[in-house]
Amino acid sequence: MNRYLNNKSLVIAGAVVALLSFSQCTPKQSATVSSAPNTTPQADQSKGLKDYFKDDFLMGVAVSSRSIRTDSALILKEFNSVTAENDMKVGVIHPAEDRWNWKNADDIVAFAERHHIKIRGHNLLWHKQGADWMFTGPDGKPASKELLLKRLHDHIFTVLSRYKGKMYVWDVVNEAIEDGPDTTMMYRESSPWWKAFKSPEFIEAAFRYAHEADPTAKLYYNEFNSERPDKREKIFKLLKKLKADKVPIDGVGFQAHWTVGRPSADQIRKALDEVISLGLEVQFTELDITVHTKPVEVISGKAPVDPGFTPEAEAKQIDKYKMVFDIFRQYKKHIKAVTFWNVSDRGSWLDSRGGGSAGDPIPSPAVFIKAYPLLFDVNNQRKKAYWAVVNK
Ligand code: G3I
Repeated sequence: MNRYLNNKSLVIAGAVVALLSFSQCTPKQSATVSSAPNTTPQADQSKGLKDYFKDDFLMGVAVSSRSIRTDSALILKEFNSVTAENDMKVGVIHPAEDRWNWKNADDIVAFAERHHIKIRGHNLLWHKQGADWMFTGPDGKPASKELLLKRLHDHIFTVLSRYKGKMYVWDVVNEAIEDGPDTTMMYRESSPWWKAFKSPEFIEAAFRYAHEADPTAKLYYNEFNSERPDKREKIFKLLKKLKADKVPIDGVGFQAHWTVGRPSADQIRKALDEVISLGLEVQFTELDITVHTKPVEVISGKAPVDPGFTPEAEAKQIDKYKMVFDIFRQYKKHIKAVTFWNVSDRGSWLDSRGGGSAGDPIPSPAVFIKAYPLLFDVNNQRKKAYWAVVNK
């Protein structure tokens, strides 16, 4: 294996990058940013994101049972909504038909309730981190549609009953639309759910079960790259079908795994306009903006170059964050929450993807390139992008 890509090297590379970023985040070295947004810290340091946006929408963050302990001070100061990054996913919480892992999910719910923070449920049906056992029948053969629907029903009822009235929103179905640019390929046909049903019946069923199980929770369809015109068209078709079929859907989650290069303001607005035209509400559910525009090229035998959090990258990220929050404010009537995917640049799911974002090819073996995608730096301190976002 390429010596730059093995595990040991990844750890060393990560440590070097973290040290470099640490020095880049100290005030004396902070980069000169020439762009217009006001990144000067405001005097009132006692306020958090949730206070700056209290008249607009909730401010959320993806958490784990670990981060609610290690980062609790920052979470409590800045946010008033949390999403479990992994701990409520089907395969994690329900790894076998008769086995449930409630501990981490319960801890997150208890933390949120203790501090009067709202909780988004994530998620009830996804092609990843699912429960493989659901797809095999007792005879070892592929489960029938009837059995799959029963298992989906029982899963949804068990989870939603346990947390009834505690979740204000559930991401019911996650990423069921094909990400590729071909608009004739509407659904993600590689999903085990699609393979079993060959129709969107399972999508509708999941929403109906969730509504029956907890009629108070808002029910969302959650997707990434939703602003890209070809994918936007496919998502719009699905949403129109769900509405026409009177499926109980309340809103759409735009995951918002973005880069400093995409999407454009126009693309975000068009996607929002379409969803709103159907009478649906919106949340930005997994926001992060990587400073890289594409994954690094891995040339055999050479160490991938990690440019780090350069002044140029910082300036571009500030501009992008400012642009998207300007749009969020303009659409605040329809946007119920904006959730960041991970707490700070100390650790992001993007860091092991070679600098790419959702939908980009992932270098294999993994390449560790830090993405610096959030509003807090590797020391959990507010970045200039933070001030650009809160200073209107
Ligand atoms: O917990 C296990 C650990 O026991 C094991 O030793 C280790 C070895 O790989 O894996 C750990 O699980 C990892 C898990 O994250 C927790 O860290 C999984 O391998 C890893 O695949 C998983 O990645 C998650 C990813 O979803 C799965 O596709 C990311 O943390 C999570 O941020 C990401 O979140 C998704 C949203 O749910 C949906 N939208 C896209 C978003 C990013 O992919």
